[in-house]
Amino acid sequence: MSSPKIAPSILNADFGRLGEEIAAIANADWVHVDIMDGHFVPNLSFGPDVTAAVDKLTDLELDVHLMIEEPEKWVERYIDAGADTIIFHVEAVDDHVGLARSLRGKGVKAGFCVKPGTPIEPYLDDLAEFDEVLVMSVEPGFGGQSFMPEMLDKVRVLRERIDAEGLDVVIEIDGGINLETIGQAAAAGVDAFVAGSAVYKAGDPSAAVEELRAAASV
Ligand code: DX5
Ligand code: ZN
Repeated sequence: MSSPKIAPSILNADFGRLGEEIAAIANADWVHVDIMDGHFVPNLSFGPDVTAAVDKLTDLELDVHLMIEEPEKWVERYIDAGADTIIFHVEAVDDHVGLARSLRGKGVKAGFCVKPGTPIEPYLDDLAEFDEVLVMSVEPGFGGQSFMPEMLDKVRVLRERIDAEGLDVVIEIDGGINLETIGQAAAAGVDAFVAGSAVYKAGDPSAAVEELRAAASV
């Protein structure tokens, strides 16, 4: 397996010091950008303009997680803002394969995300249409929640199918990842780990990234 990717979520950063907060995670692999619309999830974060500002502050790839209704109406804005990967929720679309094809056609990587209550099985036959699958291990909407270990069953099913078919699809996990939980997620087959509070509530975000990466290298 390639080395684990750590994707700090800037949702948990201090927005008043965004430049410093982004600079502090220069050793990460991706920047995870959480977009919330106050409808799909009961919280509001920020939109394309802040995403564009983040993109200007870093050379890292932006992993943009759209927790919004009607994501197809917004993807162009996030692509213009500098998104490298766009992840939408399957619960928010009627045609997940159609949206994935349109994203790839526009030159970005396509990902889909499942909430804790959404089964993964209906999507297994469509994995080749995607570059990334994001498994939520908390209810989307807020940072700082507790990891739901039963979500690793979805990861195991994904890992088996991706390996059996030799697909190039990254499995990412989001929610409650910290030094206590990252090892079990890695053992289940996760490739990329979103970490919000575990990075930004740590005294030294850069050291936290290194510690998480080491703990995921099992
Ligand atoms: C939750 C977001 C997460 C969140 C992770 O809806 O998608 O990316 O910021 O935060 P932690 O790591 O604190 O659970
Ligand atoms: Zn997220």
